Order: sequence, then C-alpha cells, then structure tokens
Amino acid sequence: MRGATTWMLLICLLIGQFYGELCRASPIGEEDSTVPEYQDDDYDYDGDDDATSPEGPPAEIVEDVQSLPPYFDQSDVSIQARPGDDVTINCDARNFQIKNIALWYKNTTLLATGQSAINNRVEVMKNNSLRIAGVTREDADDYYCEVLPQGVRQHTALSVGAKLSILCDGRDVTDRSQTFKQGDHHRLVCQTFLPTKTDIKWSFNGQRLHTSEKETAEGVVVLDNVDEENAGVYQCLGDDGSADPPHGMVTVDVQYSPKVSTHRHHVNTIEGDTAELYCDYRASPIAISFFIKDGKTLSLSEKYSIKNSLHKEHNRTTLIIKHVEDSDLGEYLCHVENAIGSNEVRIQLSYSPETPQFENSSINGNEVTMHWLVRSLQPLSEAMLDYKLSMSYTWSTVSIIHTQRHDKDNGIWKITHQMELTPGLWHARIKTKNTAGWSHFSPEHDILIKEQEESTEIDEGAVPPEDLVRAGFGVGASSKTNAACTKQLLPIAMLAGLSISLLRL
Ligand SMILES: *[C@@H]1O[C@H](CO)[C@@H](O)[C@H](O)[C@H]1NC(C)=O
Ligand SMILES: *[C@@H]1O[C@H](CO)[C@@H](O)[C@H](O)[C@H]1NC(C)=O
Ligand SMILES: *[C@@H]1O[C@H](CO)[C@@H](O)[C@H](O)[C@H]1NC(C)=O
Ligand SMILES: *[C@@H]1O[C@H](CO)[C@@H](O)[C@H](O)[C@H]1NC(C)=O
Repeated sequence: MRGATTWMLLICLLIGQFYGELCRASPIGEEDSTVPEYQDDDYDYDGDDDATSPEGPPAEIVEDVQSLPPYFDQSDVSIQARPGDDVTINCDARNFQIKNIALWYKNTTLLATGQSAINNRVEVMKNNSLRIAGVTREDADDYYCEVLPQGVRQHTALSVGAKLSILCDGRDVTDRSQTFKQGDHHRLVCQTFLPTKTDIKWSFNGQRLHTSEKETAEGVVVLDNVDEENAGVYQCLGDDGSADPPHGMVTVDVQYSPKVSTHRHHVNTIEGDTAELYCDYRASPIAISFFIKDGKTLSLSEKYSIKNSLHKEHNRTTLIIKHVEDSDLGEYLCHVENAIGSNEVRIQLSYSPETPQFENSSINGNEVTMHWLVRSLQPLSEAMLDYKLSMSYTWSTVSIIHTQRHDKDNGIWKITHQMELTPGLWHARIKTKNTAGWSHFSPEHDILIKEQEESTEIDEGAVPPEDLVRAGFGVGASSKTNAACTKQLLPIAMLAGLSISLLRL
C-alpha cells in the first residue's frame, strides 16, 4: 500500500514538473497563496529558503543547489514526551525543493502525504512537521519522514513517559536513585498524568508513608534535615482504582558523617594480657578509623594491631593491645571520619570490672529475682545493689552475696539477687568490685511490682536462688535470641557468646 502511494505521488510529481497547475489542483497540492512561490522556487534564492544557501558567490550556487538532493542533518532523532503533551516531530530536510514531497509513517503505516493527513490523530504543518496533540502511550513509536522522489528518510523515535512520575526538587527522578547529604532539605512530588482522578499513595521501605493531609493530597513528601534513616526506597502509587495502577520509585542514598559507638565503654583487662577495644561505626560514604591515646595516633607495632570487620549494622575496628601493662591503661579515642565529617568514641581500659549489664529478671508476687552479667578477669570480691521507689530521692543499698563465675576464659560473672518489694515502680542498679577497684554503676533497671490480689499460694513454687541461676543459663532461649552467634559453639562457649551478646545491649 505504501509502495502504491509512493508511486502515485512520484507520478504526480513528475507530471508536476511539466504541468505544475495540474498537480496543484490535486488534493495533495498546496493552497493558492503559495502559487507564486512555487513557480519561482527553482530560481529564487532571495526568499526564506535559507536552509539551502551554502557559502560562496550566489551565481554559482544556483546550479549547485538545483542538482543537490535533499538530505537530513540527522537521520535518527529521539523525542521524549509525557502523556498529554502536544508533540511536534520535525521533517527538517535540507535542499527541500518544490518538487519534493514529504511522507509521514508511523513505523510502517502511512500517516500523511504532503500536508494531507490520512490519520486524524495527526496534523502536518506547512513546514512538513508532524503534530500530535495530547500524546498517549499508544503514540509512542518510530516515526519516519520520507522525502520523495529521492526517498531520503529521517527516523524519529517518540517515547511517551510513564503515567506517573516522581520529581525531586523539580527534576524527574522516577525509577532512579538520588544521593542526599545529611541536613539537606528535599521535596519529592508524585505526579500522575491520567485523565481520571487518582489517589496518590507514598510508601517508604515498604511501609505506608503518612504525611500531612495537605501534602498527601498534593503527592508531596518533604524531607527536612535529612539523615541516615531517610535512606531507602520511596514508592509512589497513583491509585486510580484499576488493577494495575501506575507506580514509580526513587532510591535515596544519604551521605552522613560517621556514627560511632562501642558496646564496651569500659574494658577490663589484666596485666600481661591482650586487650581488645571495639569501635563500631556506620558511615556513608566510606570512612576511615584510627585510635588515639594521650593525643597520639596509634600506629601498628609490636604493641598495637588493628582488625577491621563488617557486621550487619555497622563496621567494626578493633584495637588489639598486647602485653598490657600499667602504662596502657586509660582513655582511648576512636576517631572515624569520611568526606562529610568525623566523630569519636571514648573507651576506658582499666583493671576494674566492666560496667555490669542487666540480663533479665522474673517477678513472682512481691518477689523479684534479677540477673546481671559483669566482666572481670580478676576475681570479684563484692557487689552492691541500689534500689529505690520511683518517686524516692535516696537509694537503699544491699550487699550482694550471690556472684558466680560464669565463664572462666572470658571472665564473665553472673550476679543474681532476689528480694521482696512492696507494690510500685522500683529502680535498681548494681556495681561490682574486684581486686583493682569498683566498676561503674550499671544503668538503672525498672521493676514493676503489681498490687497483689488475694489469691492462691503463687509463692509456693518459689525456687531457691541457685536453681534460678541455673535456670538463667537456659540454652533454648539463648539460641533463640542469638542464633547466629551460638550455632556452631559448644555449650560452654555458647554461654560466653550469649553473655557477650547481652553485654552488647
Ligand atoms: C515547523 O512549524 C512548527 C509550528 O509552526 C514549529 O513548531 C516547528 O519547529 C517548525 N519546524 C521546523 C523544522 O522549523
Ligand atoms: C514496527 O513494525 C514491525 C512490524 O510490524 C514490528 O515488528 C515492530 O515492533 C514495530 N516497531 C515499533 C517500534 O513498534
Ligand atoms: C562498611 O565498610 C564497607 C567497606 O569497607 C562499606 O562498603 C560499607 O558501606 C560500610 N558499612 C557501614 C554500615 O558503614
Ligand atoms: C533469663 O535469661 C536466660 C538466658 O537468656 C533464660 O534462659 C531465662 O529463661 C531468662 N529468665 C527469665 C526469667 O526471663
């Protein structure tokens, strides 16, 4: 069909060479207003046809141009449009003469010959450009402008964007990733290009994001003072009630200065031993870390070595100090820095016990049994428990008798205390002493003793402390809370693994 049309036009054009009037009278012909231009065209170079005027003396050009075939500067062009846009696809042929005619194809289908559109979706302008009003996804295709009789073609790929797009500060970021900086302010806007009203729904890392009503109505998510927790996948859905609503996403990466911590602020050691100090950090972009003692950056030596490890939530730098002696005690600074900034954590190395960590407790009526863990390579000589009612200013103190060596190699001790308390909210904390001195107090632990109803003998089954201590070693619960860590360890090591994991809390 295309071939036939082409030939018809060709014949017409050839006839037109000799019988200009005849062809112009045909439906393909031009309007009357252009008639004079047509007749003079071949010889008139003063007109607006400057596309064909090369450099050089005009006299010579006349002949040159006549013999030059039409051509396109670019044979392949691409146009991106949004649904609803009015799109103009140009057919900007050089040396386009009166005897030439432009055909438009959508892939293989003829759309227009000259200024006559066959398809009513399109319109052909005087300059042969093809105009499509309010493009839809169906209009996205390969378009060809073919200039006859030479048959030179220009290919234009028209792509029509998604029905929905996400703009970040006005730029289209749909299905792309963005890098924000800590402290930045950004505005994500979700837009739909649909004739029907849509309900814009945002989600962040799979969770529905609830912004203010006004912002939601406008499809806006405002990120103020951006930080690490804003990093993730933002998805927008244009709920139009259909089974396949348009959606898009943007992956946000946040660059922030390192967040540095340690699970052991006070590290217990013993003379001649090897001590390990842990420095945990998260950072983006990548950070470097080093340790400082007494204002000096520690470099690798006989004394110091460094171990870097990757964990799920953070990266860890471990400082290993060999053959500990008195001069090694004191404060160590772990300094972590990246392109955004730097942060530090302080770690104390001493011979005294580490800060006790609450393990768990059980309440039976008025009686509470609490378990703590503490690390000390030196034997514990004493433990002290402070407790008070929530509203009280002063602590009551008891000496704890029940300390038990938990794990010899790791120097972990388990401290158990059982006491009766009146109903109310209580706080408790402990500290321990070894041969070198006292530890710091543990963080406070809250105990809520409920008002007892007159009931049957709940206390009857009260277990002696020794048994409770053993109950606290339960393996089942430990493998649950710390499965990854205990999996391949022997029972005794399992306790150590458990204790360490609890100490990290
Ligand atoms: C042709 O005309 C249309 C509308 O007048 C214009 O948008 C387009 O840019 C023109 N094309 C060329 C190649 O000049
Ligand atoms: C053009 O048409 C051919 C044959 O009909 C088809 O295989 C091809 O996918 C079409 N191209 C586009 C971009 O639609
Ligand atoms: C840990 O370090 C690696 C490179 O060594 C880096 O790719 C990763 O992002 C870091 N993880 C965190 C949480 O900082
Ligand atoms: C205390 O923790 C240990 C080990 O995690 C567990 O076996 C025990 O059942 C816990 N006791 C209570 C009262 O939760």
